[in-house]
Formats: sequence, C-alpha cells, structure tokens
Amino acid sequence: MPVDNSRIPGLYNKTIHERKEAISLRTGISMEDLAVFDVENGLTQDKADNMIENVIGTMSLPVGIATNFLIDEQEYVIPFCVEESSIVAAASNIAKRCRSTGGFQTDIDPPVMIGQIQLLDLEDRNEAIHVILKSKQDIIDKANDVQSKMIALGGGCKDITCKSLSVDGLDMVIVHLHINCQDAMGANAVNSMVERIAPFLESLTNGRAHLKILSNLATHRLARSKAIFTPQDMGQDGTVESGIEVIEKVMEAYLFAKGDPYRATTHNKGIMNAISSIAVACGQDWRAIEAGCHAYASISGQYTSMSTWSVDDDGNLVGSIEVPIAVGIVGGASKVHPAAMTNLKILGIESASQLAGIMVSAGLAQNLGAMRALATDGIQKGHMKLHVKNMAMTSGALEHEIDELVHRIHTQKEQITQTLVNDLLNEMRQN
Ligand code: MEV
Repeated sequence: MPVDNSRIPGLYNKTIHERKEAISLRTGISMEDLAVFDVENGLTQDKADNMIENVIGTMSLPVGIATNFLIDEQEYVIPFCVEESSIVAAASNIAKRCRSTGGFQTDIDPPVMIGQIQLLDLEDRNEAIHVILKSKQDIIDKANDVQSKMIALGGGCKDITCKSLSVDGLDMVIVHLHINCQDAMGANAVNSMVERIAPFLESLTNGRAHLKILSNLATHRLARSKAIFTPQDMGQDGTVESGIEVIEKVMEAYLFAKGDPYRATTHNKGIMNAISSIAVACGQDWRAIEAGCHAYASISGQYTSMSTWSVDDDGNLVGSIEVPIAVGIVGGASKVHPAAMTNLKILGIESASQLAGIMVSAGLAQNLGAMRALATDGIQKGHMKLHVKNMAMTSGALEHEIDELVHRIHTQKEQITQTLVNDLLNEMRQN
C-alpha cells in the first residue's frame, strides 16, 4: 500500500534516525527493516559475489526520500538512490506544486517487450515474411509452449511482426515477437523465448537466425504522466503575477530543449535524474531504461525533449511525458538486493506498471524543477547549498569540522571553488 499522506514537512531538517522514524511511521515498515540502509547491513559480499563476476566488494550511494507525490490519487514517498545533491529536494518541491490540481495522472501501456530475431541468407525476403505471417499463430503457440508463471498469468508472446532491412549490402528480415512480460522487466523471458523459437523460424524460411535478443526500445511499453501547475503554485512568492512570469520563462526554456538537441540532451538528463535514481533504488536495469528513453526521444528523426509543456486557456502550465519504461518487481536485483526490496516496500506498489507510473511522474517533476531553477535563480544557487557540504568533505574536513567549514564557506563573497574550500579548512585548523 502507498502511504496515507506523502507530505512530511521538515524532513530535511531531521537527523537520519528521525527521518527513518518518520518513514517508518508513514509506511508501516519497521525500524528493523529500515536498518537495511545502515552500511553494515547493506549488500553482503557473498550476495554480491553471486550477482556479477570477479567481485572484490560493494560500494554504496545515498538513498533519499522524495515527498509530496500524489499520483493517480495515491500518495507516495519515493526513494531515490543517487550521488547528486538537489535532485531529491527539487522533485519534492515540484510534486508539492501540483497537489492543488490533483497531482500526476498516469497512463501506462501493457508490459509488452519486443524480442528481435535477425534472419539472414534468405532466398526471397518477401516470401519469408509471407510464410512467417501465415504461420503467426503457430509461432505464437510454440513460443508460449513452455512452463512459465508469466505465461500462466496471461503473459507470453501475443503478436509477431516482420520487417525487411538491407544495410551495406546485407539483406535481412527482422522478426519481432511482442511479449507481454507481466510484472517482470522481461529480459530473461524475452531472450529465452527468441532463442527457443529461432530454429522454428529457420525451418519455416530456410534462412539462418543470427541475433536473438530483446530490444530496449520498448515502444509498446510506454509510460505517460501528466500534471497541471497553476500560476499561484508556480510563483516565487506565491503571487499569481510572479507565477505567470515563471510559467512564461519555463516555456521559453522548454522550447529551447524542444528545438535543440544539445539542450535536449541536458534537459532529458534532468528527467533521467529522477527516473534512473528510482530505477537504481529499486534494483532495476537503469542502463536499459536510459537507452530506451533516449532512443525514444529521437524516434521522430530528431532528438528532442522527452517531455511536452504548454499553457492552457486558464494560464496553467501543463506538462506531460511519454517514454518507454521496462521495469520489473518479480525478479533480478529487485528480489535479491535487500535495500532494493525495502525501497519497493516503501513505494508500496503492487505492479511493475505502478512503478513505471511513479518513475515517469517523478521524471516530469524533476524536469520542471530544473527548468524552474534555470529560468529563475539559475541552477547553482540551490545546488550549492548541499554541494558545499560535498566540497567540505572533498577538502578532507572531518565529521565535526563540516558544519563550521560550511558556515565559513557561506560567508564568502568570492566564487566558491574547491581551492577556496581547501584554504578555508587550513585556515580554520590553524585557528
Ligand atoms: C543536472 O543534473 C540536471 C540539469 O542540467 C537539467 C537541465 O539542465 O534541465 C539541471
């Protein structure tokens, strides 16, 4: 179950222990379970050794909780796993600004992945496609003829499509298996299925099945989210006038990203700041998601913004996003990594689609957070608040020196650089 109320005012000012207590209270997850985030209780070396090859240890990253999210009328506190400051604060800040209009509304496709088979050495490509499509039901039945919980629950191969391709003199037919993966991300299920069905396609076409692998461009597994921000909620000082100005400036920023791939790349990186952080927190294959989202952003032939922004007749800012999100909650790291398992519990979700909806909604919030900051104060003001703590740590300041050093940094008039912070620490120690 998601939480009753995702607003936790003052979470920022609490100690880590107090924050855990607040999350425990909201989610019903015990403090013992939340102890999984203590460094000594993280991923054990033995578990890690079973996950990848040549393991020499593990490495940890901060997990922070974004608050204020109202998505499809449910309240969520969302774990982000990421090294960059300001991301969690910005997402929470924007999530708060659309609560008055009902928060985020999502629309998630069924969890259909594409498995690709590359057929080569065909005498006649059109004839091969004809034969495959004529045998479609046979291929589907054979592909699904396996003991599998996913198939038993209504998943499995649902459709077959083909395309003819000729690249640098190499002729090929590409067969797509459309596979409903239910609550799995699907990489294993899809890859097993395409490998299993390939010999049958060879016998049907007299061709040679070469590559057999899923596509990360999951265009049948799109996740969408939409939110509305009133001028009242967007203002710097709560006034409608300032909100109208901010909305105008945000629109100027958006149109830059819409038309220019150099800007769109950074704009979309901001969106992925949320999507990937939640993916990492929940043990998902974030590289697959990154690859799919960026490829989908260029599906028109020009790389552009993953989000769309406009102003409606009432002067509200309306944002939407549509990207492929292939996530799972029944296998992989989401079922092995203790912190990922707890993060999924914090979300209180019951399906992979729900996770996809949360991820795109957070991506949309993150995008507006970045645009709003860039279009008003500039990104460095908010960023530096926490970044100075990182700089203090980088300078070698000890735990008990950090607060004092941060205070000294904030009193500086000149530009804050790492060299300046190092000098301030030396000065402080000499005093
Ligand atoms: C930084 O991690 C993300 C931003 O660069 C995104 C953007 O420019 O829109 C602030």
